[in-house]
Amino acid sequence: MIRQDSSEVLHPFEYQDVKINNLRVKLADVFVGTVPAATGAPAAVYASWTAQGFSFRVLRRSPSDNEEFKNILGLDKLLSTIMATSFSEIPVIDFARLRSPENKPLALQQLKDALFKVGFLYLINTGLESVLDEGHRAAPELFNLPAESKEKCSMINSPSFLGYTALGAETTASQTDLREQFDFGTPVTNHWTDNDPLWQRLEGPSQYPDAKTEDLANRLIYQMSGLAATFLEAVAECLELPKDTFAPFRGHMDRLKFIKYPPSRSSQGVGPHKDSTGLFTFLSQDSVGGLQVLNRAGQWIDAPPVPESLVVNIAQGFEAITGGRCHATTHRVVVSLAHLET
Ligand SMILES: [Fe+2]
Repeated sequence: MIRQDSSEVLHPFEYQDVKINNLRVKLADVFVGTVPAATGAPAAVYASWTAQGFSFRVLRRSPSDNEEFKNILGLDKLLSTIMATSFSEIPVIDFARLRSPENKPLALQQLKDALFKVGFLYLINTGLESVLDEGHRAAPELFNLPAESKEKCSMINSPSFLGYTALGAETTASQTDLREQFDFGTPVTNHWTDNDPLWQRLEGPSQYPDAKTEDLANRLIYQMSGLAATFLEAVAECLELPKDTFAPFRGHMDRLKFIKYPPSRSSQGVGPHKDSTGLFTFLSQDSVGGLQVLNRAGQWIDAPPVPESLVVNIAQGFEAITGGRCHATTHRVVVSLAHLET
């Protein structure tokens, strides 16, 4: 909850930072607007989202204590609005209904709401349940491969950032992430040269530890890619745009990631972040859980595993092409004690 402590939040001239959830957050840097006072000059307000929540500051001093108080009332209203529009759970969108003429109008409206208000959703009835289950059953064997087999396809060797990343090799929000992962991509035939645009280096060959993994990865990518294409058409439709609006933004390579969060005394599976790659992320969770999503009021909302669903979230690519109207929502993975004890 945003704590409105009168000794700290309501006296902005002595306390330029604000305190939310007992965490002191950074000064804001995004101009939001002015909070009109009942009389006199309005207070200019800057606000931003941080990993910890919402922060703001008043930039202009009011001419009197009385007027300052009225400005503070304006800030209260601003905060109330933010709290009222914040989500408290992740919406569920039925993929089959998005494709059914009878149910489509309502499902598209639900999708639109999810995109604008949350940035995260559960997608159910995708038709990919079988291949995703196969992926989950194969994952333990993949991560149990000998260390030398995994290191043989280390991401360090790949200019396209494809391959194996060992436990503890990544850092998010200044803390070590406790996860192990394999990144694969759509098979490509081109090999980057000095004459090609720099970004095309990202579309390169994958590194597989064995043929079985290569086969599974390619089947998963192929099926997920088909789902993503249909989902993007629905996204365009719900925004009242031509169905193929987002197709040109997809590039030539989709990416697939297997992630393992091993039991740990540290709680950070992966720290607070927005997904930077691509337009949307499609995540198939196992039963462990730990995914949390940050709402506009600075609260972490659990996104627990929903059997046979995919968690879909907006990545920064889609945020960019919508001019920021559809936000990439901050999220993290917390390793639970229950996970530690199993
Ligand atoms: Fe993420």
